[in-house]
Amino acid sequence: MALPASDLTKQPDQRTTMELGGVLPRTAEVRDGHLFVGGVDMVGLAREQGTALYVFDEADLRWRMGEYLRAFRSRYEDSDVVYASKAFLNKEVVRLVDELGLCLDVSGGGELACAEAVGFPAGRVVMHGNNKTPVELEEAIGAGVGRIVVDSRIELARVSEIAGARGVVQDIYMRITPGVEADTHEYIRTGCEDSKFGFTMRDDFAFKCVKTALETPNVRLAGLHCHIGSQIFALHSFREAVTVMMDFMARIRDEYGYEVEELDMGGGLGIAYLAGDEPPSIDEFAEVTCTAVREQCAERGLALPRLLVEPGRSLTANAGLTLYTVGILKTLPGIRKYVAVDGGMSDNIRTALYHADYEPTIANKADQPRCEIVTLCGKHCESGDAVVVDMPLQKADLGDIVAVFGTGAYCSTMASNYNGQPRPAVVFVRDGEARVTTRRETYADLMARDL
Ligand SMILES: Cc1ncc(COP(=O)(O)O)c(C=O)c1O
Repeated sequence: MALPASDLTKQPDQRTTMELGGVLPRTAEVRDGHLFVGGVDMVGLAREQGTALYVFDEADLRWRMGEYLRAFRSRYEDSDVVYASKAFLNKEVVRLVDELGLCLDVSGGGELACAEAVGFPAGRVVMHGNNKTPVELEEAIGAGVGRIVVDSRIELARVSEIAGARGVVQDIYMRITPGVEADTHEYIRTGCEDSKFGFTMRDDFAFKCVKTALETPNVRLAGLHCHIGSQIFALHSFREAVTVMMDFMARIRDEYGYEVEELDMGGGLGIAYLAGDEPPSIDEFAEVTCTAVREQCAERGLALPRLLVEPGRSLTANAGLTLYTVGILKTLPGIRKYVAVDGGMSDNIRTALYHADYEPTIANKADQPRCEIVTLCGKHCESGDAVVVDMPLQKADLGDIVAVFGTGAYCSTMASNYNGQPRPAVVFVRDGEARVTTRRETYADLMARDL
């Protein structure tokens, strides 16, 4: 699919890098015209490690994880923060999640295997997926994962059978589709009624399935789960979802005599992709969620459940950036200016998939104003292959290092080898040191599975 036509009337904002605000990792700074993150020169790092390169500001990651825990635990004692590893996953981030005391959301056997590989405590794992295979369920139950989020009646029967065969009782959540329309892109909206995820509340289906779950052997209904979507700025959507879930819990108590002990409200807090974006803070999100649960429990005479949230994007996106080298410049008069980089849809599919927006800067000209509107296109054989469409950038020259901010979520985990592109390395930077935490793929890796 081709790119949307360029808006030729768009004017560059003339901002320099440090004026990009919330999209920047917390330790970003400019020294002698170069972008530094974690005290490391991004230009030097790109030249040393090669590009495309994913970089994470470790201090920023640690801060966000700590901030989530503090924001929730200070307001709601019995709460847990579950890192949604689909946002960004490698062994090092799982170690960090473990060290800081968060739980881990995995969506399948592969993510679970990564957690197991670094000895992440299985009891703190929450397993998701709308179609976990029987093999994945065997793996999860065999590993002793803390909670399996059951997504359908068929799965409920499968979990029961597998747990029974192993002689265990598996704690489960039921994922409910609360019918709340979150204010976000339709592809990442999951809580509304037409969704492949969870038990629909229509025609009382979910409510009837709770009864089935309560009567099903080898499983214990520990809690309920919902996730209304992603990149959400409107906090009232979360409050509305809490109301729906609380009504549901009260009805389960009243009609089935069962008090649901845990409530997992999913993830979804939005982040700044553009300099002008003003997402709610982690504190504001915690305040709305915790207050809604407290107040609504009191109104319905419900005991406070253990409360969980499952952030992904808001933990990692702004801590990350991608570095590229400019390889080709092409100006099509009256159409657009292309700056071609050595990556693209293979390392960041979000622009092609959702028309996502990102703020770019030239890391070796970071103190200069972004004076041109350009499209940063990739190197892949698709016309729609772009990382950034129609955004301001400093005047680019061949060999410049471009940094694209906000790529710490749903980029490396959605990466592909399209056109035989080896996937980038992942580097964590902190206190002036750079650590490769995932090495770059090699051509040999690309063929390693071929017989
Ligand atoms: C079940 C579930 N939990 C948590 C998340 C994380 O959402 P976000 O990255 O928007 O915080 C997702 C994302 O799709 C999800 O599907």
